[in-house]
Amino acid sequence: MPAVAVIGAHWGDEGKGRVIDFLAANRDVVARYAGGANAGHTVINDLGTFKLNLVPAGIFNPDCICVIGNGVVVNPPALVSELKMLTDRGVAVDGLRISERAHVVLPHHLALDVLEEQARGAHAIGTTGNGIGPAYVDKTAREGIRMGDLIRPETFRERLTQVLARKNRLITQIYGGTPIDLNEVLEDYGRCAEKLAPYVTETGRLLRDALKQGKRVLLEGAQATMLDIDFGTYPYVTSSHPVAAGASLGVGIGPNQIDEIIAVVKAYSSRVGGGPFVTELVDETGERIREIGQEYGTRTGRPRRCGWFDAVVGRYSCEVNGVTRLAVTRLDILDTFDEIKLAVAYELDGKRIDWVPANLDDLERCTPVYETFPGWKAPTSHIRNFDDLPANARRYVERIGDLLGAPVDMVGVGASRMQAIVRRPLP
Ligand code: IMP
Repeated sequence: MPAVAVIGAHWGDEGKGRVIDFLAANRDVVARYAGGANAGHTVINDLGTFKLNLVPAGIFNPDCICVIGNGVVVNPPALVSELKMLTDRGVAVDGLRISERAHVVLPHHLALDVLEEQARGAHAIGTTGNGIGPAYVDKTAREGIRMGDLIRPETFRERLTQVLARKNRLITQIYGGTPIDLNEVLEDYGRCAEKLAPYVTETGRLLRDALKQGKRVLLEGAQATMLDIDFGTYPYVTSSHPVAAGASLGVGIGPNQIDEIIAVVKAYSSRVGGGPFVTELVDETGERIREIGQEYGTRTGRPRRCGWFDAVVGRYSCEVNGVTRLAVTRLDILDTFDEIKLAVAYELDGKRIDWVPANLDDLERCTPVYETFPGWKAPTSHIRNFDDLPANARRYVERIGDLLGAPVDMVGVGASRMQAIVRRPLP
């Protein structure tokens, strides 16, 4: 049975965690394929509210194997404390598996993330400060250390000794920062390695075998298309491939093994960090969306920039990812608005365009062309059937589906697992 991927279509924080938690109830395997502890997946279920950074949201299904794939960068202390948080709250983590090919986020990555951001000054990316960029740089530069190295103390010592000497020169001589102490890292990470070793394995084989055996596999995206290193608003992006194509690479299966791609979009748009955001509302309406939606970063607590739904970006994402179905989340946040706008095109230098310019200067000059919808001005959180939604809400949701070119199969009307309208069973 082929796998299903869940991706974010805008700038992240679309509610992928809740959609994955919903789908994970009947999955055999849930595998995270990209990013690291920069992600913040909020899951609200019978056990309470959980904020996950590295562990796949399938962990709440005790029968599910949860894989941290080779495409993820793993911060061992962060993962150890996340596992402790879960076990302390009664969630079994025996189903976790970590790829031995996944790269390790090390203290010098965290230090360099901060120092490089400072050096960028006014052009700072607004990273989450989790060392993600520097860890992927080392991976590509073939200076990375993988989970399989971390759990072999001699290999870890040898690799880290080599790499850290050079990184410390960079930290001290270029950035004037404080060098990282080799022995401290060996000790701290050595302790984490002992705790994580039982979970580290060749997860690619596990995934391929699961697919051969007809098991139900879900590929969990983190971040989103507009933060993709190739397809996002470069350089205001993350350093991995959140797009669906990154899923096969990030877990080690063929692209033809993924047959359904679910894009998660919020009923409005938000972005955290720097970079262009055509429909951003720097006014009272934006503030109102932020407050009602409590749009503050799960990972960093930063206020998120909010704006109307950008269907130009949405359509682009659906094309780049090959999206087959849509989940629209947080419709209830718009319940009290008199009118709601949807960007259906951009205007660039007086011309109407319906695509996302790759060039950042062009994108920054774009202004939104809106369609305006009357609000529905009624609560929706209790609704479980699409036909029971107010007519204006139905029209708005249908228009999103039309513009993005994929059916809206699920609508989120509240944060908890059950506050969802499922129009067509998800695959
Ligand atoms: P980094 O991934 O920490 O390097 O951050 C690069 C950019 O991606 C910044 O604009 C971050 O705010 C953004 N970013 C990274 N992870 C997430 C996420 O999970 N949700 C939303 N934005 C994110």
